[in-house]
Formats: sequence, C-alpha cells, structure tokens
Amino acid sequence: MPLEFVTNVNQSRRESLLQQWSQTHDSKHTIPSIYVVAVTSENQVVGYCELGPNPEPSETQYPISLETIHVAKKYQGCGISKSLIVEAVRLMLSLSDMTGGVVVKAFQQNQRAISFYKKVGAEWLWDFETSEYGGQSRQAVALGWKSMKDIISK
Ligand SMILES: CC(C)(COP(=O)(O)OP(=O)(O)OC[C@H]1O[C@@H](n2cnc3c(N)ncnc32)[C@H](O)[C@@H]1OP(=O)(O)O)[C@@H](O)C(=O)NCCC(=O)NCCS
Repeated sequence: MPLEFVTNVNQSRRESLLQQWSQTHDSKHTIPSIYVVAVTSENQVVGYCELGPNPEPSETQYPISLETIHVAKKYQGCGISKSLIVEAVRLMLSLSDMTGGVVVKAFQQNQRAISFYKKVGAEWLWDFETSEYGGQSRQAVALGWKSMKDIISK
C-alpha cells in the first residue's frame, strides 16, 4: 500500500477522531494519534499501526483505541505486528498522561487478528454487529487490555 495513501487516509481519520473526542470527553487529558510504520532496509513500508483516542463515549474504561494494524502478508508471522503495537504504546505512554485501557475491534471471521490480539494479552470484552464497513451487517468482537502497560509486558 503506498505510504501517501496511508498518510492521507490517516490524516482525515485523525481529524475526525480528535473532533469526536473533544466533543465527548474531559479535555484535561490529551490523547495524541500515533502512527508507527515498519519499513525494510530499502525503505519499503511493510506494516503500520495506529493508536489514538477512542471516540465512543460509553467505553470510558478504554479511552484508547487500536484503530488499525496491518502487516503485508509476506511479513506476517515474524513478530513485526507485536513490535508495531509495543512501539505505539511506548510512544503513547511518553506523550500522554492518560492511563487506562485499550480497545480493539475485529470482525469475528478475522480469526488470525483475534488470535494475534489474544496472544499479546487482549481479553474478550463483548460481541456486537456492525455495518460500518461496506454497509452489510457483520459480526464483530471487541477485545481489550485493562492498561497499556499490559501490552508492553507481554
Ligand atoms: C492481524 C495481523 C496484524 C497479525 O499479525 P501476524 O504477523 O499475522 O500475527 P502473528 O503471526 O504474530 O500471530 C497470529 C496468530 O494467529 C494464529 N494464526 C495464524 N494463522 C492463522 C489463521 N490462518 N487463522 C487463525 N489463526 C491463525 C497463530 O496463533 C498466530 O500466532 P503464532 O503463530 O505465534 O501461534 C496481520 O495478520 C494482518 O496484517 N492482517 C491483515 C490486516 C488485519 O486483519 N488487521 C486487523 C484488523 S482488526
């Protein structure tokens, strides 16, 4: 995926998330949106991850959301995904005074992603249905970590 595309998508998404966040949350904490990109020694982008404010006002125990993680197929299964999350959390901890949990949402059929999240310590939180992506209603699951430090220690 071209980096320019990722940057453009993330920029508009970031603005919308920050706007939603400021409308629904106490502004004494600032939560940045963090993007971590994995590149080869030839500067080819092979993975990225986005961690930022969770705009859902009802999910107060989970103020932070793992919005995206994607690793190119060829590079899956070799630990890049874990490094991306750990690096994003480290940056979040160094840039924000926010403590609390992290939520991630995945389609039920995405068993690889669900296994990966569990492997890095996420616990099942709730099941839900969503038509947010593509209009068609699909089964999904929310998983989470009670604290960002749980991710680093895994
Ligand atoms: C989700 C993603 C980031 C995980 O990264 P990864 O490098 O594949 O993760 P890992 O290989 O470290 O871990 C995946 C675990 O799933 C399990 N697994 C592997 N293949 C699987 C499969 N086909 N079906 C179900 N589980 C599978 C294994 O337990 C594996 O851990 P292990 O090999 O150490 O036992 C990556 O697969 C990806 O980019 N997928 C496409 C984008 C995506 O779906 N993003 C998530 C959106 S919610």
